Amino acid sequence: MKLTRTLTAMAMASMMVISLAACGGGADQKGGATEAATEAATQAAAGAEAAAPGGGNIGVCIYKFDDAFMTTYRNALQEILEGKGYTVTFMDGKNDQAEQNNQINNFIAQEVDALIINPVMTSAADQIIATVKEAGIPTVLINREPTAEQMAAYDKLVYVGCDARQSGTMQGELILDTPNKGDINGDGKVSYIMIQGDPENVDAQYRTEFSVKALTDAGMEVEELDLQRGDWDRNKGQEIAQNDLAKFGDEIEVIFCNNDDMAIGALQAIQAANRKVNEDIYLVGVDALDAALNEVVNGNMTGTVLNDAKGQAAGAVEAMEALLGGKTYASGEQSIYVDYVKVTPENAADFQ
Ligand code: GAL
Repeated sequence: MKLTRTLTAMAMASMMVISLAACGGGADQKGGATEAATEAATQAAAGAEAAAPGGGNIGVCIYKFDDAFMTTYRNALQEILEGKGYTVTFMDGKNDQAEQNNQINNFIAQEVDALIINPVMTSAADQIIATVKEAGIPTVLINREPTAEQMAAYDKLVYVGCDARQSGTMQGELILDTPNKGDINGDGKVSYIMIQGDPENVDAQYRTEFSVKALTDAGMEVEELDLQRGDWDRNKGQEIAQNDLAKFGDEIEVIFCNNDDMAIGALQAIQAANRKVNEDIYLVGVDALDAALNEVVNGNMTGTVLNDAKGQAAGAVEAMEALLGGKTYASGEQSIYVDYVKVTPENAADFQ
């Protein structure tokens, strides 16, 4: 069943009740977020009645099921979509773009009403966008952001996610908020290791860059002892931290991890090396996974940053419904952002 033509303008407006905030700024691909958020707020303020648009078939492609944060995100999407009466099929891309391309083609052959896609590779965005455009399927991209130029090719396409620069900056601020600003040994510089996610992913690039930039912007000297890719994976985080702790010992004052799953792995290595977080080493992640929130509360992580899976899932569904209602998006207005939130022992319980 095609929903597209059945929705009234009133219902379309009500579906744009978006609790999203535009954030960060600077790069071209972030442009338009403010306008999108403002427009959403204006439409929400119009006070249209709530719509109950469910009943369509939605195909969701996740880059791989075996990813801690994307599992939380997937569960949130499922709850919201099924709660609204949609029939949803989730596919596991198994971190293989060719496999995901097949899944997208299958969804198109099945004539799904809309697609929600978490691309395996951002570099495949052109191809994905060309495919969904040719099929005329309204599509929401999530979690891995293409450029504004890539998205401009199709006006029934939106990206919903976060500005990863914000999360990197917050990680740096968590270190700056410590009593010695990360310089535990008082030698005038912050010596760190960086455990990076998949470097093809803009989240990994920006978090790596902006966490350190927050320190240098605050006038701190920094020394990078090591930077290695951990591909968002707990075991890899543990291995990298274990090797670096053996190699650099007390020289390491801070372990930056691009996400919490790798930070939990790094924590295992820290504890095995008889080091104590917040006393002789600092550890920060991103995502606010339940396990990480517990460690923040227990003092075993210095802090983390909420990557709001529920907020992004809600935003993705709202954008999808707007597309189903016939809304098109102008170039430069195709990215909708949800804010990150800094998580410390003081506020961690709010997110548990
Ligand atoms: C990030 C998240 C990571 C991982 C990655 C996948 O936003 O922080 O944990 O899920 O997305 O692209």
